[in-house]
Amino acid sequence: MVSLTAAFTLLAVTVSCLASPPLVRHESRRALPPHWEQSHRASAHDVLPLRIGLAQSNIDRIEELLLDVSHPESQNYGNHWSAAKVAETFHPSPETIDTVREWLTNEGIDPSRIRLSKSGGWIEANVSIAEAEQLLKTEYHVYNHALTDTKHVGCASGYHVPVHVAKHIELITPTVHFDAILNGRGSEPLRKRKLPNAHPGQPGFGPVSPVTVGTIKNIIDELENCDSHITPNCLRALYDFVYIPLATKKNSIGIVEYTPQAYVASDLDKFFTNFSKSQIGERPVFTSIDGGVVQTTELGFGVNGESDLDLQYSMALVGKNQPVTLYQVGDLPQGASFNNLLDALDGSFCSFEGGDDPEQDGIYPDPSPGGYQGKDCGTVKPASVISTSYSYNEADLTPFYTARQCAEYAKLGLMGVTVLYSSGDQGVGGGGDLCLLPNGTQSFNGRIFNPTFPSTCPYITSVGATQVVAGHKVTDPESATYEVIFSGGGFSNRFPIPDYQKSAVQSFLTNYPPSYPADIWNSTGTSRAFPDISANGANYVVAVDGQFELVFGTSASSPVLASILYAINDARLAIGKKPIGFINPTVYSDSFRSAFNDITNGTNPGCGTAGFSAVPGWDPVTGLGTPNFPKLLAKWLVLP
Ligand SMILES: *[C@@H]1O[C@H](CO)[C@@H](O)[C@H](O)[C@H]1NC(C)=O
Ligand SMILES: *[C@@H]1O[C@H](CO)[C@@H](O)[C@H](O)[C@H]1NC(C)=O
Ligand SMILES: *[C@@H]1O[C@H](CO)[C@@H](O)[C@H](O)[C@H]1NC(C)=O
Ligand SMILES: *[C@@H]1O[C@H](CO)[C@@H](O)[C@H](O)[C@H]1NC(C)=O
Ligand SMILES: *[C@@H]1O[C@H](CO)[C@@H](O)[C@H](O)[C@H]1NC(C)=O
Repeated sequence: MVSLTAAFTLLAVTVSCLASPPLVRHESRRALPPHWEQSHRASAHDVLPLRIGLAQSNIDRIEELLLDVSHPESQNYGNHWSAAKVAETFHPSPETIDTVREWLTNEGIDPSRIRLSKSGGWIEANVSIAEAEQLLKTEYHVYNHALTDTKHVGCASGYHVPVHVAKHIELITPTVHFDAILNGRGSEPLRKRKLPNAHPGQPGFGPVSPVTVGTIKNIIDELENCDSHITPNCLRALYDFVYIPLATKKNSIGIVEYTPQAYVASDLDKFFTNFSKSQIGERPVFTSIDGGVVQTTELGFGVNGESDLDLQYSMALVGKNQPVTLYQVGDLPQGASFNNLLDALDGSFCSFEGGDDPEQDGIYPDPSPGGYQGKDCGTVKPASVISTSYSYNEADLTPFYTARQCAEYAKLGLMGVTVLYSSGDQGVGGGGDLCLLPNGTQSFNGRIFNPTFPSTCPYITSVGATQVVAGHKVTDPESATYEVIFSGGGFSNRFPIPDYQKSAVQSFLTNYPPSYPADIWNSTGTSRAFPDISANGANYVVAVDGQFELVFGTSASSPVLASILYAINDARLAIGKKPIGFINPTVYSDSFRSAFNDITNGTNPGCGTAGFSAVPGWDPVTGLGTPNFPKLLAKWLVLP
């Protein structure tokens, strides 16, 4: 007791002597995100809900911990963790909490104004702009979004914290993070509302010609046209995917959609009528997150294409009476982003009043008229396989933000969840056809390859796109997609290369060195490369708003792979084994190589270049290749 008091006094004295402890710049932006312009200085009296994300314990060991349960040679393979063990392992330490609290109180913020979130992950205080500027040694400005006329308060140039505090903080908001909330309609879906890309006027987009497609009983005809019209039977033929589920009650698959994206019930039935008659009337298991609704007020390819595609194909491929769960995220006024989904899947990720970045994610409760009055936090038990066909560009987000979210994907992996994301549709370029300028700004004039996120996170599985070459048979080798869209692929500028991928990427760089100058791509060989796997992403026959349309995109590839992995989980669950969880260490292992159809033709153009080339072995266009279901199943069944 006595010594504690003494220690405290000493500390207080030390602090008051050091009038200004040494500071370090904690976060900054290299450039404003696209379309944002600085308007004017924020007013000193305005109040900010300052949130400080506390550093998590053991976060530096997360890759090691994840590999321990995911590497096929580990003794603990498949021994996934409970949510409680995840929460406990990464909970910020008392020292971290105390250090941050002390810093705030020493800066004059009364302890009564400081609140620790229920999860213990965040410290929150309402502060005036003047206080925030003093605390973070920065200047707050109002920024204006040129296209949407949205306003944002932030400090783009960066902010500072004392050196001794920095290691206890992941990020502080609102600061350098910018508004990517796509407020319902109207705002441009460059980042979140990533759709199966269908540039009007390009070949292949438009209503399907009824002449060229067969009905399900004309399966022979259908399989003869897979080079121009992909149907569930084409995919079954391509990947030898025939399976009757045995363990339905234990199994799960989740498809993620962000409001206002919505499926149309009659489109599902139209699709089933032609391609899976026994499923007419089937619907996904609806799970609403943060007020998610399948809205029916707005129709059109732009809001229905993605959900219709994802659900029609995943439901048809997993088959009749399988529980395909739809995670519909975000209310109608506000929408949502990946962090909102993660909040719902893992209560330790969110906090009492929102661990989300107010500038990136939907903030709930939502005060707008008709807004969702709750905040979903740990409300959903994650499905064993989760597929998302939306993405950002890595450069849209700050490094701390992407790091925090990426660590959360690793935690889902620890819990035995397979997380799939589509790799992007603009080849080596970013979403919105943006590439990077040397100063880090994204621009239509950029020449530097612009990787997508979360594909650059090493703890998700990134899915690229292939295509049956025109005039070729469904049994011929596929090529990288070369029509309408190009498979997203390349190298992170942020995340280091994970161990599981090192030898595959090294062989690519050694045997097929890309000829591009090192200043237009991350040629270091030390960064995370993507995609990991690919699947067909061209010419999908999809019922959208009452018509069959031809749809292209890695958006299609991800739910298709998810459906195949769902079947593998089913077979394992049926014999008492665990779900496959985080698959990357397994699929990159030597013994799994032969279970993929290696794609060796095609490229992924972008940023004014031909992009990378698909070559023998792993490549940054099609990854390891497309799945061969029976071979993958056999290999996964012998793993413990
Ligand atoms: C980056 O470079 C472009 C082109 O030279 C310029 O227009 C832009 O203002 C620069 N941005 C920053 C933040 O330096
Ligand atoms: C900050 O202000 C909001 C709105 O007045 C209030 O709901 C919230 O409880 C406050 N937070 C703290 C930590 O005082
Ligand atoms: C769907 O089935 C109808 C009725 O058999 C047929 O006329 C139509 O061509 C089919 N459409 C597609 C895209 O297969
Ligand atoms: C390339 O990637 C590495 C590791 O991810 C990173 O440290 C480096 O800064 C990147 N280079 C550029 C030019 O972004
Ligand atoms: C290889 O891909 C190109 C398009 O990039 C395509 O035109 C060609 O037919 C493909 N060749 C083979 C053998 O798949």
